[in-house]
Amino acid sequence: MKITIYASTTYDVIIKRSILDELDKHIDCTKETVIITDNLIPKEYVSKVSSYFNAPLVIELPSGENTKSFEHYINLMTKLVNKNVTRAVQIIALGGGVIGDLSGFVASTFMRGVDFIQIPTTLLAQIDSSVGGKVAINHLRKNIIGSFYQPKKVIIDPDTLKTLEDRQFNNGVAEMIKYGLIYDKNLFRRILNEEIKSNIEEYIYRCIEIKRDIVVEDERDYGRRHILNFGHTVGHAVEVLSDYGYLHGEAISIGMVSVINDERIKKEVIKVLRKYSLPTHSNFNIEDIIDKVKNDKKAINDKIKIVLLDDIGKGRIKEISISELKQYIRM
Ligand SMILES: NC(=O)c1ccc[n+]([C@@H]2O[C@H](COP(=O)([O-])OP(=O)(O)OC[C@H]3O[C@@H](n4cnc5c(N)ncnc54)[C@H](O)[C@@H]3O)[C@@H](O)[C@H]2O)c1
Repeated sequence: MKITIYASTTYDVIIKRSILDELDKHIDCTKETVIITDNLIPKEYVSKVSSYFNAPLVIELPSGENTKSFEHYINLMTKLVNKNVTRAVQIIALGGGVIGDLSGFVASTFMRGVDFIQIPTTLLAQIDSSVGGKVAINHLRKNIIGSFYQPKKVIIDPDTLKTLEDRQFNNGVAEMIKYGLIYDKNLFRRILNEEIKSNIEEYIYRCIEIKRDIVVEDERDYGRRHILNFGHTVGHAVEVLSDYGYLHGEAISIGMVSVINDERIKKEVIKVLRKYSLPTHSNFNIEDIIDKVKNDKKAINDKIKIVLLDDIGKGRIKEISISELKQYIRM
């Protein structure tokens, strides 16, 4: 399955089981190559990908959000310079969203930009972070240093999800539920009623199609793209208040429930979240949530955009002042 993304540069996303066994059909394996990965990505994927290249530089970083840091960014840059890596290099991100975001930012700034290929291995990275061109590191706040930089290609092997822990898999399902809620009622129903693992490539395909439709209209996130932030206003606050004890998808699950007014819709959303062992409520109080929202990089001059649901499959962006936020959320 292939989806072409039309952005400032056009690129293909290829989804195929066992595609790692035929990587040379999809990327130029004669090029100078740097592979960036983390220490918890199963070694079989790292050695499989490396085996296609002649002496690739393989860099393994510690797993976890802390790796999306200025320190790791600078260390990577130093390594590339010391190893005499040239502008002809392609940088391959092999891992989840942390590795994708950091490697993409490195690729976007090393020698003013070099080729970048994403091989995402978590569900969240396969349906969301590897597509759309947002790359970043954290500095005092999340994703505060970054750029828009499209990959040259995204290669998705759904078979890599077999080694992913259930909690990480469900973390990705939360984003999938979000796509259904804002854009595609049928997708939502299927996530609720079907066993998604056996047909996971179809779900990945549909989620990327939705992301493509939205991002194509607003690559740099000034308008329509904001709809992808459904559940994220409160979700980000919950992530910070829990000191990242909640994974991103878990925090936005709480965030999504908190902004749904309609009791019938809320009941269905709670049902689907429970099916995937995702949280639906937290004990943080509303004042602390609002306090964190004020610090969100998306808050501009006391105004924020929140995403509301008119129905399942129909998200809507609304600009409000932070003082009004209390009327829209229930914790
Ligand atoms: N750029 C974007 O548009 C965008 C969108 C959403 C999220 N993000 C970012 O993505 C990051 C989160 O990404 P994530 O949820 O993928 O987390 P992650 O990258 O931390 O990966 C989660 C864990 O899974 C392990 N792992 C990865 N693939 C595996 C596999 N196939 N088998 C076994 N273990 C595996 C990793 O080693 C890690 O320990 C956050 O930093 C977030 O800000 C970016």
